[in-house]
Amino acid sequence: MAISLKVNGQTRTVEADPAKPLLWALREDLDMVGTKFGCGAGLCGACTVHIDGSPARACQTPIGEAQGMAITTIEAVAQSDAGKRISDAWVKLDVPQCGYCQAGQIMSASALLATTPDPSDEDIDAAMMGNLCRCSTYVRIRAAIKDAAR
Ligand code: FES
Repeated sequence: MAISLKVNGQTRTVEADPAKPLLWALREDLDMVGTKFGCGAGLCGACTVHIDGSPARACQTPIGEAQGMAITTIEAVAQSDAGKRISDAWVKLDVPQCGYCQAGQIMSASALLATTPDPSDEDIDAAMMGNLCRCSTYVRIRAAIKDAAR
């Protein structure tokens, strides 16, 4: 079935089952591999994208339900001014360790900063609690979000 998706401002069509998770449509059909597979069960946040501006789990979002919604991935956020500011803070504060979860972390951080330009520790903890990091870079992530907010 042809499913039309609005990804990073462009209309893209994929031939797939409407139940296919958005994560795999992005990675397999659209060759956008910045969005990562972690758990596939909605638990880790590695697959975070924005849907209509809010963070969402791409592994738990059937493409049939994402039709007509504005999907934003790390590929677009990385090119945006806000994304560059966040990436600069990530580099400056040496946030990544293995790096695997960081695209998802940056997607949640950018959604937070878009709505809360000067977040408190509590705001950051609430926004980031769904993004797990096995290297435990949480303290540096919080510092980098504050740095990017300046
Ligand atoms: Fe989607 Fe873990 S891969 S939440």
